[in-house]
Amino acid sequence: MPSDAELMEASLIAVADAGVELRHPLFARWFAAWPERRATFINVDASSRRMTDETLEMMLGLAKGEELWVGPLVDELAFTHRSYGRLPWAEYESWIDLTIDCIGDTAGTAWSAEANAAWRRQGERLKVLIIAAREDWDRAMPGHILGELPEVLS
Ligand code: HEM
Repeated sequence: MPSDAELMEASLIAVADAGVELRHPLFARWFAAWPERRATFINVDASSRRMTDETLEMMLGLAKGEELWVGPLVDELAFTHRSYGRLPWAEYESWIDLTIDCIGDTAGTAWSAEANAAWRRQGERLKVLIIAAREDWDRAMPGHILGELPEVLS
């Protein structure tokens, strides 16, 4: 029985073999779901590369038991994203779900119920970490969010 990491790697190789840059269908679907989010992006080309790569890395890292670096990277993501305002949780959730949907759409015969379950399992773990990181920053630095400056700084 292959591990989650093996199933996930096989589907990523299939996506690469298909010659598809995952970020393109992913951002198209995500912006279609949340059209008002488009304006928050200053540089979609640069950010779409990093957002897509890091999301994949984080899920794969969790599957490989590499919480040691995934945890701090998630903390960093939750902090830097506070600069874009109070991002609704539903958009985060759909970002992760759509990332996996797009892999499934592109991976062809490498996609299976097992591969789907592996990605969804690690996606749910990533969601739990992001929720915790967002809550931690809210506690540590309430007000440190775009548009929510304390009176003395505004
Ligand atoms: C696991 C989830 C996510 C990861 C790993 C991630 C990662 C990243 C990274 C690495 C960047 C580039 C930062 C830079 O180059 O300085 C970025 C930019 C950005 N992300 Fe995310 N992101 C995630 C989810 C989200 C979600 C759900 C939203 C919105 C609801 C969002 C909104 C943005 C925005 C607005 C930018 C700035 C783009 C720009 O100025 O062009 N991200 N993200």
